Amino acid sequence: MSPVSQDSFPLTGRYAERNRSENLAGPGDSRPTGLQVIEDEGLLDGSWGADKVCLVTGVSAGIGPETVRALAATGATVYGTARDLDKARAALGQELLATGRVHVLLMDQVDLASVRSCAAEFRKHSNRLNVMVNNAAVRNSFLPLAPLAPIFYFSKIRSFLFNPRICLPITILESMKTNGRGIQVMNTPQSYTKDGFELQFGTNHLSHFLLFHELRDLLLASSTPDFHSRVVNVSSAAHKYSPLDLDDVNFTASPSTRPYDGWAAYGASKTANIYMTTQIERLFGGGHGSSGENGQQHEKKIHGYAVHPGSFVSPNLQKHSAAEMAAAHADPRFRKIFADVQQGCATSVYAAVSAALEGRGGLYLEGCSEAGPSPSGDGMENAVDYGHGNWAFDEALEKRLWERSLEWVGAAADHDVTSGTHQ
Ligand SMILES: NC(=O)c1ccc[n+]([C@@H]2O[C@H](COP(=O)([O-])OP(=O)(O)OC[C@H]3O[C@@H](n4cnc5c(N)ncnc54)[C@H](OP(=O)(O)O)[C@@H]3O)[C@@H](O)[C@H]2O)c1
Repeated sequence: MSPVSQDSFPLTGRYAERNRSENLAGPGDSRPTGLQVIEDEGLLDGSWGADKVCLVTGVSAGIGPETVRALAATGATVYGTARDLDKARAALGQELLATGRVHVLLMDQVDLASVRSCAAEFRKHSNRLNVMVNNAAVRNSFLPLAPLAPIFYFSKIRSFLFNPRICLPITILESMKTNGRGIQVMNTPQSYTKDGFELQFGTNHLSHFLLFHELRDLLLASSTPDFHSRVVNVSSAAHKYSPLDLDDVNFTASPSTRPYDGWAAYGASKTANIYMTTQIERLFGGGHGSSGENGQQHEKKIHGYAVHPGSFVSPNLQKHSAAEMAAAHADPRFRKIFADVQQGCATSVYAAVSAALEGRGGLYLEGCSEAGPSPSGDGMENAVDYGHGNWAFDEALEKRLWERSLEWVGAAADHDVTSGTHQ
């Protein structure tokens, strides 16, 4: 049995073949690292120069610091945001900070006021912004699982066996939720941001929406004929867990029929990441799926890219799942699907720098490749297959999310979302 469905292989691009099941061998395999992407793009010589400016959120753990490291290797100036600056500095390391081109800014993404302050602070340092990587995320999960580890292997093993490509713990945890043993791992107490939004929606989507809103003029102003500005929204294959219910992002409308479900909320926030990406492309990039035309008069443009970074061990995001990670790593079938954080940042880096993507956006990327629709569609049990879910692109919802997000962050509607243009 192959741990990755090969029925239909929806990835295309220079790195696509490396993601085929037979080529996967776990951390350090042939899948590129972020630095490898920089080298392959011919940018390791620092040729971007310090005038090119990148901003990466969530640089205190996981792939955030590695994304900064790779982007800084282009010679660019890179700002990283974090709610804990000491943790961020430690994660980035002295060597990177000593370049003088890597800076950290305070931003707590559970607090929209903090996002505004961060954007204002950024403006004090830079009047340019070429690449924004919205990477930070929180996962409102769970619990002391180690004593329950044996159950993982006997409960609802179907998803465990057939869908191992994403974070295995997620699959297992969901199994536990539905295994009829009364183990409820998902319905943990709901948390809210300071502004009253469900924690994952508020942190993973809304704060990034506001950050973009606050800095979009710099992205537009910095766009050049050679390099249109880019927004990289780090989503997840977990977007296939759940659509986004814009009438009930807080799961409070009907507690009896739609009780809070942390994984559904995470999936919805990751669906929102893709919707925001596509709407950026529609408003600022010339349209979803647009491509630059030869001889076309250059306009200031921003392109959006949604990224699934793959499955990697992030001590932060998966801190509640140590036993499951250990179990997954012990199994050779699953060990090979995991990457390390240097590889985990590579698709974000590819989205940020790839010449092959110049002039077009509104794309869903994974494995440093363009990904089409998943052959297996949506749903948690299908989340592990390559490709985006059925609901990942929905023009009406993308526009509505944009309108609602403007309201929620208290911003004026300065875009005509109906015609798809910005003023
Ligand atoms: N890990 C995977 O296998 C996987 C798979 C698919 C998609 N992803 C996506 O990849 C991205 C990075 O994931 P990761 O695994 O590298 O995550 P991680 O290790 O948990 O890092 C997340 C980052 O977001 C920051 N963050 C969380 N809440 C914040 C807040 N309120 N204010 C400011 N910063 C906050 C964290 O800061 P603290 O250090 O202060 O907590 C940390 O820097 C996320 O968007 C995630 O959804 C990951």
